[in-house]
Amino acid sequence: MKIHRFKEINSTNTFLKELPKKEEYEVVIATTQNSGRGRRGNLWTSEEGGAYFSFVLKEKSDIDISQYMKLPLVVGYSLLRTFEKLEENLDFKFKWTNDIYVNDKKISGILVEKNREDFIIGIGINLNNKITGEVAAKGCSLSDITKKEYNIEEVIFKVIEDFKENINYYLSGNWNEILDYLNGKNYLLNKAIKIDLRNGNQKSGVAKEIDNSGEMIIEIDGKREMFSIGEIHISK
Ligand code: BTN
Repeated sequence: MKIHRFKEINSTNTFLKELPKKEEYEVVIATTQNSGRGRRGNLWTSEEGGAYFSFVLKEKSDIDISQYMKLPLVVGYSLLRTFEKLEENLDFKFKWTNDIYVNDKKISGILVEKNREDFIIGIGINLNNKITGEVAAKGCSLSDITKKEYNIEEVIFKVIEDFKENINYYLSGNWNEILDYLNGKNYLLNKAIKIDLRNGNQKSGVAKEIDNSGEMIIEIDGKREMFSIGEIHISK
């Protein structure tokens, strides 16, 4: 496995995107990022102590592209399984489409990007970093909760090793098992939410389960509607 380590970088995803030739599971790890990116153009604050890394998954020609549509969900599933192995006895939850929450706060975010025939899987985990100020209302780190100090690289390599196993599990026909697991950890289930749509509009409803195609079901005025993308906010 080819590994690039940086004390500081703009973004580990951007680095891999700009790398002309990449190997499967080539990985970039950074102590800090000065332009860490989240989904929908959001900034991902990347202070020292967090785990910031990206790795490459090559698209396989014998696998239908539709299979890859659920990749972010499979990454989320895999991350949850890794967190469980840390044996902290915490109730990690999955917030569709690909955030991990614990105690109603975001602990980890995933950014999957396509770059020619490669997928770049970027993961940020609030691990040893302390979250303070305004952000502490929405996010937390593992260390904020457990008061422990984690070995960042050890966690990163566990995440990647588990992902290798779980992507094979998924591609060998176990989507239903993965979906059941994600629905069992569905942070949004039965919560009143608002979803931001691509056209700038917003819809309000009650979040239900993730359906077989990986879409989120939201009950709006008593009718179940499906959403394939969109940022979800919990209504106050
Ligand atoms: C999100 O919550 O919207 C996704 C956040 C993803 C952050 C990670 S940190 C490592 C990798 N490099 C980036 O610039 N982003 C991802």
